Amino acid sequence: MLKVLVTGGAGYIGSHVVKLLGERGYQVGIIDNLSSGSLKQVLYGKLWVLDLKEREKVLSVLKEFKPEVLLHFAGSIVVEESVKDPLKYYENNVGNTIELLCAMKEAKINNFIFSSSAAVYGIPEIIPVPETAELRPINPYGQTKAMIEKILEDLAQAGEINYISLRYFNVAGADREGKIGPNYRQVTHLILRALKAAKGELPFLEIYGTDYPTSDGTCIRDYIYVMDLAEAHLLAMEYLLDGGKSMALNCGYGRGFSVREVIEEVKRVTKRDFKVVEGRRRPGDPPILIADNTKIKEILNWRPTYDSLEYMIKTAWEWEIKN
Ligand code: UFG
Repeated sequence: MLKVLVTGGAGYIGSHVVKLLGERGYQVGIIDNLSSGSLKQVLYGKLWVLDLKEREKVLSVLKEFKPEVLLHFAGSIVVEESVKDPLKYYENNVGNTIELLCAMKEAKINNFIFSSSAAVYGIPEIIPVPETAELRPINPYGQTKAMIEKILEDLAQAGEINYISLRYFNVAGADREGKIGPNYRQVTHLILRALKAAKGELPFLEIYGTDYPTSDGTCIRDYIYVMDLAEAHLLAMEYLLDGGKSMALNCGYGRGFSVREVIEEVKRVTKRDFKVVEGRRRPGDPPILIADNTKIKEILNWRPTYDSLEYMIKTAWEWEIKN
């Protein structure tokens, strides 16, 4: 069976993809430095606890495990932190990805699935945003993702790599069996913070900005269920191995919910009320991000099956109360 190496496989999205790969019978190897991921999240495969900075060690893993394809999730992901500490993001995301790509080149592995982000678009002119939109990130986090995409494009042009950059919109929810879930040490995401407020672990939920040019003044996002996103990775992988062309693809459902709508749904699903405070805008937040997903449906025949905010909140809530 196909061998797949996953970096960041102990993190939130990586671990859900590892679970799906394991269930489908793929042979899984994982590299994770456990800086934000956790061992408990790793349900399948062999784990090497390593930092991608350690190129020689990564190279020996590649030579030992001999994967046909690499899925690269490892990286720093908090937009606000990237504004305050850009160098951490350029080092962890861009620097370490270059290290990984160098090791791959030496080990002659050339199929690569990259965890990109809708943050590459910045404030898009067209909504839903298509992949052809100009990349104009408005924060260092988005910059790092755009830079890596550019590097991959150049490498593909030079015939050194085949890649798919998956541009994630707002990933949410937990594995339906409740075995794994969002495992962030730093909880910054809206749904998770709202759940913490519902649970009483936060005294209130703050809305970051109510003066955006949207219907209710709060930001709109395209929330996508983590297992639908996981499925997109498996399809992208198989597509590349079948000789598919390198490209970037949006991963979203093509519709959005405002911050207020998300909060109402969290209250409804959890059957708990909590205090909501209207605060100032958070730096680096675009008003509206919604994916045009025509391309991924066409190219990968991706058919999302959990397009339900209720379901995402429900699975995340079940995970939250269990842990
Ligand atoms: N928000 C609040 N209060 C909170 C938390 C968030 O009002 O306590 C708001 C944010 O300001 C934003 C929206 O809720 O308008 C969603 O925020 P998240 O932090 O949940 O998600 P982001 O849209 O900022 O970021 C996510 C990923 C990024 C990715 C981006 C691309 O975390 O990695 O989507 O769309 F870059």
